[in-house]
Amino acid sequence: MHRHDVVVVGAGLAGQRAALAAIEAKSDVAIVSKLHPLRSHSGAAQGGINAAIGKEDSVDTHIYDTVKGSDYLGDQDAIEFFCREAGPTVIEMEHFGTIFSRAPDGSLARRPFGGAAFPRTIYAADRTGLALLQGLYERLGTESFTMYDEWDLTSVVVHEGRCQGIVAFDRRRGSFEEIAAKSVVLATGPCGRVYGRTTNSHTSTGDGIAAAYRAGAALKDMEFVQFHPTALLESSILITEGARGEGGILKNVNGERFMARYAPHVLDLASRDVVSRAIITEVREGRGFPGPYVHLELMHLGKEKIESRLQEICDFCRTFAGIDPVTQPIPVMPAQHYMMGGIGTNIRGETNIPGLLAAGEAACVSIHGANRLGGNSLLETLVFGKQAGIAAAEHAARAPAPSVDPADVAKDAATVDAMMRRSDGEEPQHLRIAMQAAMDSKVGVFRLPEELTAALADVRALQTRYERVRVVDSSKSYNLNLTDALETGHMLDLAEAIVVGAIARTESRGAHSRVDFPKRDDANWMRHTLATRGPSGPVLSYAPVTYTRWEPKERVY
Ligand code: FUM
Repeated sequence: MHRHDVVVVGAGLAGQRAALAAIEAKSDVAIVSKLHPLRSHSGAAQGGINAAIGKEDSVDTHIYDTVKGSDYLGDQDAIEFFCREAGPTVIEMEHFGTIFSRAPDGSLARRPFGGAAFPRTIYAADRTGLALLQGLYERLGTESFTMYDEWDLTSVVVHEGRCQGIVAFDRRRGSFEEIAAKSVVLATGPCGRVYGRTTNSHTSTGDGIAAAYRAGAALKDMEFVQFHPTALLESSILITEGARGEGGILKNVNGERFMARYAPHVLDLASRDVVSRAIITEVREGRGFPGPYVHLELMHLGKEKIESRLQEICDFCRTFAGIDPVTQPIPVMPAQHYMMGGIGTNIRGETNIPGLLAAGEAACVSIHGANRLGGNSLLETLVFGKQAGIAAAEHAARAPAPSVDPADVAKDAATVDAMMRRSDGEEPQHLRIAMQAAMDSKVGVFRLPEELTAALADVRALQTRYERVRVVDSSKSYNLNLTDALETGHMLDLAEAIVVGAIARTESRGAHSRVDFPKRDDANWMRHTLATRGPSGPVLSYAPVTYTRWEPKERVY
């Protein structure tokens, strides 16, 4: 039996920051992670982290840009708190050892990002996530905590109306273990792999979101899925918005800078939902390159700038597309990038289940509303990771000892045992690929009611087939066939919640663009979607949006 005050699941930026805050509050802390902390998906974040530190900029402008970017669905009290924490958070990370890029005068360099009134995105070349991760990991390494490395979360344990720990699968030993805890923080990252065309790492399978949902937590705003405008053709590797921040421009097959049609004031630096819709429209109206794709041109920036500010992008283009961005345009298309939705929390990371908290992309506070601005995600992991760690420690200090039940482990072990004993059945990878194909083709940038309905039928048929999923590999240790089966089950539940939310929301707002309801409908839809798990799928209810100072108005760039 393993027992701790606070268990943090996930070792990316949000998880590490939560753990550090709980340790500083004198809790006995454990981190559970399915992969090494430095390999977490936070490390894939390229372009930067927002903080209004420029003389011309202000916290209020950052707040307003975020509210507007969210298409007025973000909770303004949370956004105000978030933007106020930005400056101190970046400085703290610098003190932890993160090496940021510098301006010629030695101050922190900033680049323009989409939807921001001023250059506000602080960066470390195009490896900002990795630089932050390394700084935080070094800081955390000076503290004492328990690490359960290469353990897969399978269940959140809820007894007597409160969270009492988790069940996880130890990949190395091939056994299920219960970890009792007074507080559990889920910082397991996104579920972007419900899509095939995604910038997310292969590990972004929403394990924590699914476990919380199965345990009774409410998921918030799952229908809002961000598509990053510039993913490298075929591989869907992220080509950072920083490339446009540095002056990169999008062009169609006619050589036109087409963003002038869609965002005449800010052009290529409109918010991501606007740019993604513009690219898809160009392609649908016959102005894309065969493939289809559009061009992102950097050549005019010059070799020195491209190779110093966009080092990773150069490597990715040369290695994965066989092109040199110094001399050739980059072929790009939108790909799934970020989930605005997630486990519903308040500013402290608390969910509707006492003792269960969430932070980072697994959570929905909500600060991003219907569309997130680039550079706000890295900031979110740190600001709300810290808040969740503080709240988890406070809860642990007053909660009774967690009660454990051998049946918790036995239930998950029996499920897996059945998967491994099945002599015929469904291969998880076939179900995963079919789910991704349905989501890619029917739940994309523009959404049609008949396609959404068909996607729901596809996902539900796959859920039925999943009841007979089988694990062919009988290895006890490092059985990745089993990991695949568990992750696919999680993603099918989340895909269903995304589609059900998207069918219900009969308006277009931010990244949710319904072809049959092209306008934002504040009278009926200025509200958050909540999805809880019922016997036959997600049960939807709605919650009001919190306003402080900004009245909704038309969003133009
Ligand atoms: O484009 C990017 O570098 C991504 C940044 C973000 O998602 O915040």
